[in-house]
Amino acid sequence: MVHFGERYLSARKLVIAIDGPAASGKSTTARLVAETLGYLHIDTGAMYRALTLKVLRAGIPPADAEGVGRLLATTHVALRREGEVTRVLLDGVDVNAEIRSRVVTRAVSAVSRHSSVREAMVREQRRMGSEGGIVLEGRDIGTVVFPDADLKFFMTAGIEARARRRGEELRAGGIAPDMSGLIEEIQERDSLDSAREVSPLKKAEDAIEVDTSDLTIEEQVRLVVERVRGVVEGTDA
Ligand code: DC
Repeated sequence: MVHFGERYLSARKLVIAIDGPAASGKSTTARLVAETLGYLHIDTGAMYRALTLKVLRAGIPPADAEGVGRLLATTHVALRREGEVTRVLLDGVDVNAEIRSRVVTRAVSAVSRHSSVREAMVREQRRMGSEGGIVLEGRDIGTVVFPDADLKFFMTAGIEARARRRGEELRAGGIAPDMSGLIEEIQERDSLDSAREVSPLKKAEDAIEVDTSDLTIEEQVRLVVERVRGVVEGTDA
């Protein structure tokens, strides 16, 4: 793993934004970078997924802006760190496993496009990041949530590499993946997330683009951590 000197841990606490499409490698990178730096890791996708789970359980159609907005008013989504793992709590209950299910994955883009949802989530994410020392990953961190982040990354990868990674994740969870179905699902989510009106998936102008297709996780982490070193040492913008 990447070794990062003690002094960086006590140095200025940065806000690091990592955006990118589904299965681009941002989650694992964000988690390991945060671990390396002793920073907090916020998986903002998990927050949208938790709300989506509640919408589905309540039988509200994901496209129903009013119904989703009403439910949102009585919903509490929190992330709690327990050792190495960050737990997602929906109204106080751990929903870490349920939010990764296929039904939630299929509905999450439709729920997260509503402006009431985005406002509430962005407010909460800004609150969590207000003191710095944080790595946030998502779709709109560098463009909307923290446009003044100290460092912004935009991760991409070829569709084959992304489907392969998602397939490996599923296999690890004991599910046999259907690869062509996975490619379709990822492409559909990309286009919904990129085409929505409010804070679409988009690279911030000042984000560093990283194509992870041929990079190992360790290389991805090292690349980000090296940039952090540059900022902290004042050798980088
Ligand atoms: O990162 P993920 O695949 O778990 O995210 C799930 C969905 O949540 C994604 O398809 C779109 C939405 N999302 C979003 O709209 N904005 C974010 N900052 C993060 C996720």
